[in-house]
Amino acid sequence: MPIPSAEAARRRTFAIISHPDAGKTTLTEKFLLYGGVLTSGAGSVKAKGDRRSATSDWMELEQQRGISITSTVLQFPYREKVLNLLDTPGHRDFSEDTYRVLAATDAAIMVLDGSKGIESQTRKLFEVCRDREIPIVTFINKWDRPGRDPLELLDEIEEQLILEPVPMNWPVGEADRFRGLIDRTNGDFVRYTRTARGADEAPEEIVDPARAEEEEGDLWLEAQEGIELLDVMDRSFDRKRFEAGELSPVFFGSALTNFGVRMILNAMVDLVPSPSPRIDREGDPRALDAPFSGIVFKVQANMDKAHRDRVAFLRVCSGQFDRGMVVTHEPTGKPFATKYAHSVSGQDRETVEQAFPGDVVGLVNANDFRVGDSVYVDEKVQWPLVPSFAPAHFRIARTLDTSKAKQFRSGIGQLDEEGVVQVLREPDIGDQAPILAAVGPLQFEVVQHRLENEFGAPVELVPCAWSTARITDQKSAEALRGMSGVTVAARSDGELLALFESPYWLQRLEMDQPELTLTKLIAEGS
Ligand code: G4P
Repeated sequence: MPIPSAEAARRRTFAIISHPDAGKTTLTEKFLLYGGVLTSGAGSVKAKGDRRSATSDWMELEQQRGISITSTVLQFPYREKVLNLLDTPGHRDFSEDTYRVLAATDAAIMVLDGSKGIESQTRKLFEVCRDREIPIVTFINKWDRPGRDPLELLDEIEEQLILEPVPMNWPVGEADRFRGLIDRTNGDFVRYTRTARGADEAPEEIVDPARAEEEEGDLWLEAQEGIELLDVMDRSFDRKRFEAGELSPVFFGSALTNFGVRMILNAMVDLVPSPSPRIDREGDPRALDAPFSGIVFKVQANMDKAHRDRVAFLRVCSGQFDRGMVVTHEPTGKPFATKYAHSVSGQDRETVEQAFPGDVVGLVNANDFRVGDSVYVDEKVQWPLVPSFAPAHFRIARTLDTSKAKQFRSGIGQLDEEGVVQVLREPDIGDQAPILAAVGPLQFEVVQHRLENEFGAPVELVPCAWSTARITDQKSAEALRGMSGVTVAARSDGELLALFESPYWLQRLEMDQPELTLTKLIAEGS
């Protein structure tokens, strides 16, 4: 019998965050190449469109827009370990979704484009990680192209993210003259050879310093100067500070040519913590060897058009998952038979027979499951509540075809349960014209597209003047309803939200009538 805590020690569960185009997809593919999952040449030689659909995209919309909206889980072996890579949506409008995915990871790789440094989306996603105290490994990518000065990039990380960067390797040369990387942990110079389009692992050669100086000349001497400077600055790795999210080990490389891919993968094994006991709502840890438990972090419907099904992704938190076992769904107390359990990699589904802490299981037709829910056997557990983000964009949804009212209602209900948008209802209007509340406007496009294509219910989404929301209570709601410029609507989780057209007016109201309950929602990245 496998021991869950021993299996957990073999696991590393992490996500990659980046600004679009920094190289997240490329790095993911290269991980699979080095994990032996993608056979040589597969994936990386395909055009972007094909490649994306091969790894992570389910939705047509994603393909049309070329962005990643839905989450994917990839599992691959590396150095006797099992690596679980959770894909996160790249667009800022999906940061709420990202937040939930990051709740299921133990670390994140932050990919930067070496010619651009920190970009807007990097910063936002980083803030989400910081909020969750997730350790971050930094990968400075595209070193095979002309980029910025490495020290300047490190300064940028330090200043803009208030995160201490600790280079674990240092590049020798750059762009066309990028030769390899000095591994700062042991001083080895790893020289790489390019392969055609990086389709195969880049051959590596360990070169001693005397030969390196002779063969690489100025490039070597320049790299040595950089390293000496780092030594003087006393930049060294500290595991505690890394795990606290204060310090980030930095790796230079090029995902495209495979330079440095092995080093960063090794870091995932050597530096990233393995799954640890998860803290429950009471603040107590659930031991890894306790009976099975998991947390739902993502619900996705209609992933397979042919089946019209709904998959709840859960991360195993304790114990052993065996397909077919009957688990209890905590909020409803109902039993659920896990007959259809999958690991999901893009459109390919493989049945999961067993899973351990840190692994992700997709449960098909888990209709009552919501993000944040717990499932368990024997010993009940509840996880801390998942906060919802403050919406800043609002639309009223109306069906364009009254004969499709039923489809409209069930579609809205479904998207609400998945957390695609928050759905609010005014008492007098209710289901006919729900208010959709989102962190970013792209969420509305997803709603519109899915209602039309999956539920056959074309809708119009009417823009509204509200810009700010606060959580209120029944008593304050009565007072607020009598005022102009504010609307009170109920969210499907039962919370009452007061929506304001003018933030200044809200500010004044807060000052003038402090007795009103107007609680802030968690702000994006706060
Ligand atoms: P993303 O998932 O973060 O959005 O980025 P993705 O991997 O799709 O990479 C964006 C573009 O950057 C791609 O080029 C990709 O080939 C390129 N790229 C990624 N890593 C590197 C690298 O290390 N060096 C260089 N030079 N380029 C890199 P594209 O032209 O948009 O697509 P494709 O036609 O090359 O597939």
